[in-house]
Amino acid sequence: MDNQLNQNLNTADLNGIHEYSELLSDILKFRARGEVPMALVRTYGCQQNVADSEKLKGMLKEMGCDFTEDENEADIIIFNTCAIREHAEDRVFGNVGALKNIKRRHPSLIIALCGCMMEQEHIAERIYKSFSFVSLVFGTHEIHNFPKLLYSTITENHRIVARGNDDGIIHENIPTLRDGTFKGWLSIMYGCNNFCTYCIVPYVRGRERSREPEVIMQEARDMIAAGYKDITLLGQNVNSYGKTLESKKTFASLLADIAELDGDFRLRFMTSHPKDLSNELIDVIASHDKICNHIHLPFQSGSDRILKLMNRHYDRKRYMEIVNYAKEKIPNLSLTSDIIVGFPGETYEDFQQTLSLIKEVEYTSLFTFIFSPRVGTPAAKMDDPIPYEEKSKWFSELLKVQEEIAAKRCESMVSKTYRVLVESAKPNGELTSRTEENIIVEFEGSEDLIGTFQNVEVTKARNWILKGKLV
Ligand code: 5AD
Ligand code: SF4
Repeated sequence: MDNQLNQNLNTADLNGIHEYSELLSDILKFRARGEVPMALVRTYGCQQNVADSEKLKGMLKEMGCDFTEDENEADIIIFNTCAIREHAEDRVFGNVGALKNIKRRHPSLIIALCGCMMEQEHIAERIYKSFSFVSLVFGTHEIHNFPKLLYSTITENHRIVARGNDDGIIHENIPTLRDGTFKGWLSIMYGCNNFCTYCIVPYVRGRERSREPEVIMQEARDMIAAGYKDITLLGQNVNSYGKTLESKKTFASLLADIAELDGDFRLRFMTSHPKDLSNELIDVIASHDKICNHIHLPFQSGSDRILKLMNRHYDRKRYMEIVNYAKEKIPNLSLTSDIIVGFPGETYEDFQQTLSLIKEVEYTSLFTFIFSPRVGTPAAKMDDPIPYEEKSKWFSELLKVQEEIAAKRCESMVSKTYRVLVESAKPNGELTSRTEENIIVEFEGSEDLIGTFQNVEVTKARNWILKGKLV
């Protein structure tokens, strides 16, 4: 049948997402085990990957697919992978290996792997050699080509690897199926030019490029009109937004423009690199109610020596200047950060400086990672004498310090009233919601409230989660 279809089609006339999707809707329906072809898209890693998966799902929907979480029910399985740390990659390898038996039971199943891992040549090669049941491998620069690649692998019945093609172009108008109905991501830029010495992202996501402000504004308007209440602007370093545009536009002015749109919504953004954060941005946050009083501002290490080795382009003094200015301007500011423990050459004294910075800033929460060497990055070649077990001890020490800080902050919120966005219902009947500061508050209430803003008085603090009651 595949060959028959292939003969009937003139592929030379085809280049667009919609054309291939239309053809695939017949093919996938024919191959499906049930009435409707079922797709499973599993996302590993960061919000950028979540946003990419929403595009994959948008295209799959256009091909007539429905979605499942059950591997045994799927006609097509896509793993959108993450390369940020070795642990993330190991999980993918393990989970792909486990698909072998499913493919054996259902030979018509199509298995595709995409995302950051696939942009690394050695990984793509290993996947191709080790997992013959994987039909399609494509990198982050090929998302817009997904329908075409899928069409080729099915109709020509051969395995495809498509990667390493950073054309620097932003492909707009890819169909998107967002996971949430009231919380959503809005990508404002792609790629990264910073080359922090530990980080694989610039190698797998290519050079920084910003979307045109008009396109972003339209997408924001569409999201607000569709009922989105919590919108997060996404980029590897949002503070350098606009540098690749012909028109001069800063992130601060883009954020202000979106915050000035009509509608009842709130705005967040991530990630902010301290080296590019301007006072203008802090002033914009301070002067717009719709922009959350929350900044995710990764400092990575409290030691100037390590920050230099990381190629971060700021020191502790500059970081604290930003923090102090932001705290002064933005009432109840909530700061969160990423931290790496055990960077090559880091001593216990360097680590103590990270601890002292955490205590000085008093973060709401932290994303903490033990250094993981990434092939091709400068840090992977640096001398790294501290054993992993020792780094793990430092890591635990850090978590303990942060727990106390978070508990103190939560304690200080008791008896106060906050406007929260209700997100979901727990099995015990309680609702889960989030404050502007990005802190979770649980309270009793009806499921009808999901997706709405409510005022909740905090009654109790339990470590980093609050309990409250509807006002
Ligand atoms: N090892 C450990 N953590 C890393 N991160 C990025 N690369 C590595 C690595 N090689 C962390 C940084 C970054 C976050 C997204 O992941 O803290 O901000
Ligand atoms: Fe990686 Fe640094 Fe770019 Fe963030 S800014 S994605 S840590 S290279």
